[in-house]
Amino acid sequence: MITIPAFDVVLFGSTGDLAMRKLLPALYFQHKEDRLPDDGRIICIGRNAQTQAEYVQMVKTAAIKFVGDAFEESSWLSFSARLQYLQFDITDATAYSLLANRLAEKPSHVRVFYLATAPSLFIEICKNLSGFKLNKGNSRVVLEKPLGNDLASSRAINAAVAQYFEERQVYRIDHYLGKEAVQNLLALRFGNTLFEPLWRREWIDNVQITVTEQVGVEGRGDFYEKTGALRDMVQSHLLQLLCMVAMEPPANIDSDSVRDEKLKILRALRPFTPNDIAQKIVRGQYRAGAIGTTGAIGYSDEEGIAPDSCTETFVALRAEIDTWRWAGVPFFLRTGKRMQERLAEIVINFRQVPHAIFPMTRNIQNANRLVIRLQPDESVTLHLLAKQPGGDEIKLHPVTLDLDSDESAKTRRPDAYERLLTDVIRGQLTLFMRSDELEEAWTWVEPILEAWRKNEDPPKLYQAGSWGPAASTALLSRDGFCWHEES
Ligand code: BG6
Repeated sequence: MITIPAFDVVLFGSTGDLAMRKLLPALYFQHKEDRLPDDGRIICIGRNAQTQAEYVQMVKTAAIKFVGDAFEESSWLSFSARLQYLQFDITDATAYSLLANRLAEKPSHVRVFYLATAPSLFIEICKNLSGFKLNKGNSRVVLEKPLGNDLASSRAINAAVAQYFEERQVYRIDHYLGKEAVQNLLALRFGNTLFEPLWRREWIDNVQITVTEQVGVEGRGDFYEKTGALRDMVQSHLLQLLCMVAMEPPANIDSDSVRDEKLKILRALRPFTPNDIAQKIVRGQYRAGAIGTTGAIGYSDEEGIAPDSCTETFVALRAEIDTWRWAGVPFFLRTGKRMQERLAEIVINFRQVPHAIFPMTRNIQNANRLVIRLQPDESVTLHLLAKQPGGDEIKLHPVTLDLDSDESAKTRRPDAYERLLTDVIRGQLTLFMRSDELEEAWTWVEPILEAWRKNEDPPKLYQAGSWGPAASTALLSRDGFCWHEES
């Protein structure tokens, strides 16, 4: 079992949604499973005038809701002893003396400053921390997305944070990298000899990366209206998944080796020309419909959304990577809100056999495919053809091989934030984005944002509860492919 050093996690935004829904439950699970050292403290910063007892009660109520059946009174009691509520205004530079004094009680602890606040506060918090030299020594800062809103603003944030923290101290979270299935993808690719020779243009027909959600904007209308799916999901989560699929084998699992390889992929992504943007990208927005049997209003009727909004809630695109390994292999990326299913998966479609000698029981487009599913459940499945049992002749029918079903897989799968938070405390940067990666991802997305700004065509409407606009199906059919769920 790995050892986690003694720590102080300082949570800015400790009464917010992320802290309550993800961060504190993640730390609770790690505590409950006895993975945290006894002297780890969680210092929760908030502006609200409330007592320690009131704050702990607030976290408990949230924990019962978000931890679910795994919540246990006894482990909760010992966990809550780690929580320390510290009330001050994070924009008041002098108030940081309170925090400095608290941290000085444990000078040897690793210090993790988790900024779960609006990004507009990041620079000010970093500056205020440095005012009391809290950026020195064993200190780390964790930045939540969105890190900027375009290339210029992300550069500005990176440059400003770099005045106070060295790059090795900065942990930029993309929680998709903390998902177990993503790490399993690394294990499968680089822990076996089997896949690597096949992992290239000669054997792979196309790659599909889908992250769809059933939820809508969930009360975040103001944020979403300025953001849209391209910034919210494609620039971050989907491009990170693409890098994990496409990168060359790193020399080792060290953070910079992995991040250097990911960066090379981002640099090799073919830039979109204005013509490509019209041909290879589908921009959609949901209209009223139903998710299952529950009615859903359209995006433009959601609170905080302009009735004539052109913000996209769906994107599908055809990307290409200009390298020897991937030349000519389309990478189809797709994400959307209010879709038919909550689904996150990577599908690697291998080529057809060059010459078929057996009849098939049914028509299958890509008989050999590897499906790495991240959500709603996690699995890795290899699809093959085998002989249909019985009969006089060899007829092929599809079978699947579950690559994720050993005994250990039955243990609880930690949430992405559990893995990522403990990685920060342990000083492991591999699953976090480096500033150059982030900027490169924005560089690729920028021409699309620019073209959409100028374009007066509204996004294509799709019915809530569907798989998106018909143009998304057409995007693949032009190459003779179809999305995984349609095959
Ligand atoms: C966030 C986006 O980064 O990821 C949200 O801002 C989205 O809009 C969320 O809903 C999806 O994360 P997950 O882990 O629930 O798929």
